[in-house]
Amino acid sequence: MTETETVPADPGNRAADAAIHVEEVSKRYGTRQALDGVSLQVGRGEFFGLLGPNGAGKTTLVEIMEGLRQTDSGTVSVLGTAPWPRNVALLPRLGVQTQSSAFFVRQKAHEHLATVAALYGADRGAVDRTLQTVALVDQRDTRVENLSGGQRQRLAIASALVHEPELIFLDEPTAALDPQARRDLWDVLHGLKEAGRTIVYTTHHLDEAEALCDRVAILVEGRIAALDSPRGLVGAAGAATSLLLPPERMTVAEAEAIPGVDRAVLRGGSLVLETQVSGKVLSALDALGGLDGVQTRTATLEDVYLRLTSDAGHRTTQNTENTENQA
Ligand SMILES: Nc1ncnc2c1ncn2[C@@H]1O[C@H](COP(=O)(O)OP(=O)(O)O)[C@@H](O)[C@H]1O
Ligand SMILES: [Mg+2]
Repeated sequence: MTETETVPADPGNRAADAAIHVEEVSKRYGTRQALDGVSLQVGRGEFFGLLGPNGAGKTTLVEIMEGLRQTDSGTVSVLGTAPWPRNVALLPRLGVQTQSSAFFVRQKAHEHLATVAALYGADRGAVDRTLQTVALVDQRDTRVENLSGGQRQRLAIASALVHEPELIFLDEPTAALDPQARRDLWDVLHGLKEAGRTIVYTTHHLDEAEALCDRVAILVEGRIAALDSPRGLVGAAGAATSLLLPPERMTVAEAEAIPGVDRAVLRGGSLVLETQVSGKVLSALDALGGLDGVQTRTATLEDVYLRLTSDAGHRTTQNTENTENQA
């Protein structure tokens, strides 16, 4: 990337350095419009999240980027070339973990990985190195069918990594994992992020997306409803901070009279004060009797996500304009 030294740091403007360009891509299955004019770019070294409810079109979009599906219209460029028609030169540069991963059964973990490595012509050290990356060294001699769900998912990711691809696609790698397995896999993903890998990652877990992704696109019914850094999305949505008080501290009316409080409600056994200026309100509460029992809950990506995705059912064709980069 010697020719791109002057690319601005602005993550929304990575055109010259993008690993993926998707421009106005649409895809229909029969009467079902799975993707409807999707445009986005993924920068090199970026950890890019694709979020959205089931059926939003995430897998379709990922498969189009991987070269497994053809678009109806629009253009796609991956690492500088078109992934469709099936681009044999591109395949070794991509690492793909599909939503339902297939394994070579009756093989031990390291044998499975060695088979994948051989398919790609990876070097001899790749298998052990990759088992280490995904924390499966202790399971190297365990047969694939005897691995736990979480271990199998890590092996699927190892299969996507073993040949050191430039670009990695992970489609819901943490779906159907128990909380501990999810945490373990999360560590692996953190490691990939630290290593500066370019990753496209779909998930239902907003806490993961918030922690891992540089930027996320929220897909709703085949369109991008929002695209920005998690921080940017939370900030742009003007989502309020909630301060939770023991309900006996004051009445709703008294709470709403505090300067800076936008709204006060009794919810879940607490008096909840919503504010955009939590510092100011906390000072006021402190002066009114201390901060004992006061909890602060800042807005999260989940708040933004729920707002965007719960709107979907009420939308008409007139007001579904694409608000990419709305920040
Ligand atoms: N091969 C297919 N044939 C017909 N419809 C499909 C096919 N794949 C996906 N769909 C439909 O397209 C929409 C988007 O699906 P998908 O891309 O799998 O979404 P997601 O991954 O976000 O759950 C859904 O309505 C789904 O039922
Ligand atoms: Mg999917």
